Amino acid sequence: MCPFIPEQKGDRLLLILRKKPGVYFKLAALEKTLKTDKTGLIEDLVQIKNWGYKFRTRPDAVAFIKAPDVLSAAEISYRLNTRIMGCRVLSYRAVKSTNDLAAELADGDTPEGTLVTAEEQTSGRGRLGRKWHSPGGTGIYASLILRPDIKPENAPGISIMTAVALAQAIKKFTKGKVQIKWPNDVLINGRKTAGILTELSAENNKINHIIVGVGINVNHQVTDFPDELKNTATSLRRINRKKINRAALLKSFLVEFEKVYALYPKHRLKKIHYRVRKLSSLIGHEIKILSGRQLLEGRAVDIDYDGRLILERNGKKIPVVAGEVTVVKEQS
Ligand code: BTN
Repeated sequence: MCPFIPEQKGDRLLLILRKKPGVYFKLAALEKTLKTDKTGLIEDLVQIKNWGYKFRTRPDAVAFIKAPDVLSAAEISYRLNTRIMGCRVLSYRAVKSTNDLAAELADGDTPEGTLVTAEEQTSGRGRLGRKWHSPGGTGIYASLILRPDIKPENAPGISIMTAVALAQAIKKFTKGKVQIKWPNDVLINGRKTAGILTELSAENNKINHIIVGVGINVNHQVTDFPDELKNTATSLRRINRKKINRAALLKSFLVEFEKVYALYPKHRLKKIHYRVRKLSSLIGHEIKILSGRQLLEGRAVDIDYDGRLILERNGKKIPVVAGEVTVVKEQS
C-alpha cells in the first residue's frame, strides 16, 4: 500500500480523525501531534470542513463523523491499495485542466504515479481539440503522470490499456453493459460514460512523460449535460438511478490501472488482449474511420498489441493508429 504523504492543508489532521469515526480527540493533544497551535488547528479544521467533511465539536475536542463525496487527497489516499499509482495526490476544487497541470508538474521531477484531480474543470479538454464538459462535484476529472520505459511508437496502446482498466473499474459499480470504444471511450449500454486523453512528451525518440487524463460521468443528471450530449452521453447515476461515491470508483480505477500498466513495457497489450477483444464495441462491425483527412471503411476485426485497430477491406488488413469511428452496420 502507498504511504499517504499529506501535502495539503488539513490532510494530516483529517487522517488522524478519520481513522476513528465518532471518537473525540482533545485539541491540546492534536496541537502537540501536529506541532501547531490553536490558530493552526482551527485553520486546518476550516479547510477540511470546506471540503464538506462533517465533525462534532466540544470546547476542547473534535470528532470525525462523515466523509462527503469529494475527490480530496485524503479521501483518495484513504486505504488506497496501490504501490505507485496515486501514491502522491494533488486535489483541487477548480482548475483549467488537470492534464495541463499534470504536464507542468511532469516537466519537473514529479514522480510517476502522481495523480492530479479536480472537482471542476473550467477548460477541460477532450480529444481532437474538443471541450470536455466538467461540471463541479459530479464527475471524476483526473490525470496520472507516467514515465514508462517504452518507445514513443508503442505509446498509442496506453489509451486502450487505460480504457480496459477503466471498464474493469466501472463494471464493479454498475449492472449496465460496459464496453470500450476504440480508441479512448468507455460506454455503458452503448452511451459514452468516460473518455481518455493521453498526451505524450518525447525528445530524441525518448519519452519524457505521458499524461493519462480520464473524465468519468459519475453523478451527472440529465440537466448536467449540454444539449448536444443529452442523447449520446450518460452517467453512472443515470444508469443505476443512484449516486456513486466518486473516490471509491477512482481508487478502483487506480488499482486496475496499476495491474495492466505493470505488464505494458514488456508485453504491451498481449496479456490483456482477450479482455480488449471482449470489451470492444467495434470488433465484428462494419465501420467508418476518419483518420486525419482519410476516410476509411471496412470491418473492424481486431485491436493489435500496440492498440491499433485492424480494419479489413477487400481481404486486406489495415492497421489504424487513431481516428474517429462511426458504426455503419452492426454484425447481426
Ligand atoms: C475524450 O473523450 O475526448 C477525452 C476526454 C478526457 C477528459 C479528461 S478530464 C481529466 C483530464 N483533463 C482534461 O482536460 N481532459 C482529461
